Amino acid sequence: MLKLTYRLSRGTTRITLGNGAISSLKGLEDSLVVCPRSLRNMASSRLHGSFEIIEIPEGEESKALDTVVTILDKLVDGGFKRTSRLISFGGGTASDVAGLAASLYLRGISYTSIPTTLLAMVDAALGGKNGVNYRGVKNMLGTFYSPSEIIVDTSLVGEMPHNLVEDGIGEIAKYATIMDGELYGFLMANQMDSILDDAEKTEYLISRCVSDKMDLVSQDEFDLEGKRVILNFGHTFGHALEGVSEFSIGHGHAVLGGMLLETDYAAGNGLMNLETKEGLHALIRHLGFSTREEDYLPGLRTELLKYITSDKKSTRHSIRLPLPEEIGIPKVCEVELSSISDYLGHH
Ligand SMILES: NC(=O)c1ccc[n+]([C@@H]2O[C@H](COP(=O)([O-])OP(=O)(O)OC[C@H]3O[C@@H](n4cnc5c(N)ncnc54)[C@H](O)[C@@H]3O)[C@@H](O)[C@H]2O)c1
Repeated sequence: MLKLTYRLSRGTTRITLGNGAISSLKGLEDSLVVCPRSLRNMASSRLHGSFEIIEIPEGEESKALDTVVTILDKLVDGGFKRTSRLISFGGGTASDVAGLAASLYLRGISYTSIPTTLLAMVDAALGGKNGVNYRGVKNMLGTFYSPSEIIVDTSLVGEMPHNLVEDGIGEIAKYATIMDGELYGFLMANQMDSILDDAEKTEYLISRCVSDKMDLVSQDEFDLEGKRVILNFGHTFGHALEGVSEFSIGHGHAVLGGMLLETDYAAGNGLMNLETKEGLHALIRHLGFSTREEDYLPGLRTELLKYITSDKKSTRHSIRLPLPEEIGIPKVCEVELSSISDYLGHH
């Protein structure tokens, strides 16, 4: 079992990672567990002790202020105190709403995150960003609030539906391409199925992503130093793809499409060499996904623009776009929105 500790502004975040990590969770009395409806039985059987539970809607539909209010009402009605604990048990949507509720209740109570999708294990449950969608814009409302404890039980990966594993691969490819050449080499040297069939390799894969993300988070917790922004590679266009599809495509799939489009834009505008673009394409093909942008576009390319201009990283005229300088080496470019508009309109 791997134990990692990070010092962040609210104190320490402890991560327990490995096969059966959930059994390390103790002292659940005085806790409220937040989980999607479909995971209630799984939460009840995996978590031991007496605790209260609240069900939330499935997936992106749950990322609304209403869900946060429902959780807060349950905390108020149940008489939970500042010393109580909120636990999210689910994918990234559950940790996004539970984290926001934990940060608001009594100005912040203890928060534990138990990711149950591959995407949440390697990304969403880490780093303290939470949020809900508002007026059609992804993650428009939210806070920074790091969990005090994150339990990454890698044994869940073998049991989760295949689409949830596939959806995590987008973020894994992102770490490999933008900041972790060693992970890139590991992925290219192994077939994903053979990694996931092997507990040790699965643990290595997930722990590598966890350390990649947490190292950046501990250097730039509030996304102000220009370091954490590199984790947004693929997300500017990726969030727009999700918006155009009205969130019907998975986040990881959108990130794959976003990386392909950003790379294509960058290569066409002198911001990336062809070798790096081909490196990304080779990885995506090796992981079993298409590199044709049409396979990721839920509507017209021009529709992406309105989502890109409302992106949190944009100013009135430009946007910060993190890109690989070469595989495993990041850089952050400031690009004119007009050049993105030209790219989307003229292809
Ligand atoms: N805050 C962050 O830093 C951050 C980072 C990346 C992504 N996100 C967010 O995460 C969200 C996507 O999260 P996700 O991909 O984990 O999906 P999800 O939370 O939407 O879950 C997808 C579906 O799978 C179900 N599910 C979860 N675990 C399961 C399991 N083990 N077995 C069977 N069903 C299971 C869920 O109930 C849900 O119906 C997006 O909203 C994205 O914006 C947040």
